[in-house]
Amino acid sequence: MAASATLFASNDLLAQKTLREAYKDYFPVGVAVAPRNLSGPEAELIKQQFNSITPENAMKMGPIHPEENRYNWQDADAIVDFGVTNGIKVRGHTLCWHSQAPRWFFTDSEGKDVNREVLLARLKQHITDVMTRYKGKIYAWDVVNEAVPDTGKGIYRESKFYKIIGEDYIQKAFEYAHAIDPEAKLFYNDYNTESTAKRAKIYQLVKKLKDKNVPIHGVGLQGHWSIYEPSQAELEKSIKTFADMGLAVQVTELDVSVYAKEHERRAKKETDKSVYTDEMMEKQSAHYKMLFDTFRKYKGTVTGVTFWNVSDRSSWLDNFPVPGRKDYPLLFDESYKPKRAFEGVVNF
Ligand code: XIL
Repeated sequence: MAASATLFASNDLLAQKTLREAYKDYFPVGVAVAPRNLSGPEAELIKQQFNSITPENAMKMGPIHPEENRYNWQDADAIVDFGVTNGIKVRGHTLCWHSQAPRWFFTDSEGKDVNREVLLARLKQHITDVMTRYKGKIYAWDVVNEAVPDTGKGIYRESKFYKIIGEDYIQKAFEYAHAIDPEAKLFYNDYNTESTAKRAKIYQLVKKLKDKNVPIHGVGLQGHWSIYEPSQAELEKSIKTFADMGLAVQVTELDVSVYAKEHERRAKKETDKSVYTDEMMEKQSAHYKMLFDTFRKYKGTVTGVTFWNVSDRSSWLDNFPVPGRKDYPLLFDESYKPKRAFEGVVNF
């Protein structure tokens, strides 16, 4: 029996539509992947359910560009090849991010910070090399990721990029990207986008880019949410804020944690139990239904929704924000079977 038949023969949701079928008139439904997901039962599930993939780590600055004159293309190539071979779109993630950036990027041979010109030249080279390699195969890129802080007055996170170059590193990154692939859809991507303060800052950042005619086409709401947030009104406010600026919105890293949302890593406490109660499951199902009802309501504006990981068997939330606390944030369970939440997403 083929792997895909095994997957579905053993569950009682055989008659369900798949995600990609259910949303064919709305937007591609994607999933974040590592090379290890591209063979065996996970690969079958991906091909059956999704029509977009995003490399979970393989295209980030550190993993793909570990030394100035060395790229590590292997993992990214494998992911792009899987997409191309199977007719699955590929989203690029991410060209400029303070996190998972290699130390060499910011320092000279003596370990001192480089100046603005050097850092801009490195950024341009990096974006050029990565985008050229995958030109025509990646339809959308997260150009700049998480440039806005959650707290404080400033619009811009005090990252090395900001401190060495200044706020126009963001503009430059978009310009470099557009010059390489004018067809690619270019996104600013961030989390906690339904916080009133953070949404307002992202609005200001994006507004400045738009006013200067910088080539930006959309805003990525990462969508690292929980069963307690966001409310439908908060989500709609985010979507409308960016739609009103003529931008597309994609939900780029969707998961619905069963725990209260925290965005900073912390140690595990005595009270942190790995549990998935019936109540959590019900709440999660209702929350997923509300989220997808809302995404469909903004058909035309919401142009993509990507889950961050394949199934509850393993997700990045098992180790973040609390190392060793298992989470259950996705639509497929630990045996890859569709959960109750799946039903509310595909039946409408
Ligand atoms: C996460 C990956 O899932 C982990 O494997 C890695 O250890 C850390 O990064 N925001 C982003 C993603 O934009 O790139 C992050 O991915 C999750 C938060």
